[in-house]
Amino acid sequence: MSLIPVPTTAIIVVAAGSGARLGADAPKAFVGIDDRSVLRHALDGVFAAQPMQVVVVAPDTHVGVAQAELLAAAGDRAELGSVVGGGATRQQSVAAGLAALWGDVTRVLIHDAARALTPSAQIDAVAGAVTDSGIIPALPVVDTLKRVDGDDVVAAVDREVLAAAQTPQGFPRRALDDAYRTAAASGVEYTDDAALFAAAGGAVRRIAGSERAFKITTPADLARARQLLEPAVPQGIGRVGIGTDVHAFGGEGPLWLAGLEWPGEPALSGHSDGDAVAHAIVDALLGAAGLGDIGEHFGTAHPEYAGAHGAVFLARTREILAEAGFAIGNVSVQFQGNRPRFSARRLEAERELSAALGGAPVAVTATTTDGLGFTGRGEGISATAIALVHRIG
Ligand code: CTP
Ligand code: MG
Repeated sequence: MSLIPVPTTAIIVVAAGSGARLGADAPKAFVGIDDRSVLRHALDGVFAAQPMQVVVVAPDTHVGVAQAELLAAAGDRAELGSVVGGGATRQQSVAAGLAALWGDVTRVLIHDAARALTPSAQIDAVAGAVTDSGIIPALPVVDTLKRVDGDDVVAAVDREVLAAAQTPQGFPRRALDDAYRTAAASGVEYTDDAALFAAAGGAVRRIAGSERAFKITTPADLARARQLLEPAVPQGIGRVGIGTDVHAFGGEGPLWLAGLEWPGEPALSGHSDGDAVAHAIVDALLGAAGLGDIGEHFGTAHPEYAGAHGAVFLARTREILAEAGFAIGNVSVQFQGNRPRFSARRLEAERELSAALGGAPVAVTATTTDGLGFTGRGEGISATAIALVHRIG
């Protein structure tokens, strides 16, 4: 018995084209972008969306390869997927996919494998918007358009009334089946499924598309896809920042320091959990990136951080940096205080803090002050951090 309920939505991923304009030595869907093919990327997006029946339409020569790609992408949803052979035109390939749909399916999405980087959110959005009307994702047209006759420009075209259609395109299943039957009988080839559906009297509406859903058609498109998948690389030399923090003992509950709970140790006081080590790191990172300081991002004006632990501050700081185009190089932090005795938990603390920063190395050292000053008198803890960040591009 299946653990996944039989879905009422299906997606047909058409991958049976030859890719003549790409000119690679394999059919387009089986060309590598990085270590994954165009089809594999498309299927990764499909399986990250809500569960639905997945029908891949592959060239007859590549049904076995497509099956392997499907299994690799499907994870525990393999039973939702199948592969069929395609036709001479895209329309015939879609028709072959429609013939493989399960009886329970009431909504069908048609998707070009060539739109390999389409976000799963776009697939979910189209599926969620289908009613009696068809749905296409579309982008506004940005170029200035002209009507031409040979090399003569004969008119300007108002781009406000135009939109660039993408996939997946979603339709009520029964009406799409009927429209495909009509089209097959008439022998007319339509430019896309929405045009075919509209020709049979169906209404079509649009929702927002996305830049990442562009179609890989030419070698330049493939290069663009490769570039989008490359990991961000550091630009230029790094930038350093420094942060310090002090908290007094006298808080409620257990001590939190360096991202760890210290049962039996006196707590530090503060708006949050008083973790001076984590807070010094936050200031060092924000300072390195030139993005303000901890008070601005996490202070009393942000009640959502009252009582929050250091790891939450660090994770949010990493996000703030990433949004501004910075990656974290490394962090070194030292605290001064008589307690807690730190060395036995150093590795644990470093792992915790590093994890909160997405894996950037964090080194933590601790020292006492020979009985001098407020830390020497056991009144509180002081921490100093230095961080290195890189602009990424
Ligand atoms: N497609 C298909 N069956 C066909 C033709 C196209 O399944 N007989 C699919 C392609 O695999 C692609 C999508 O329809 O995912 C969009 O078509 P297009 O970008 O034109 O791909 P190709 O036809 O392969 O490329 P070209 O036109 O350059 O040959
Ligand atoms: Mg084509």
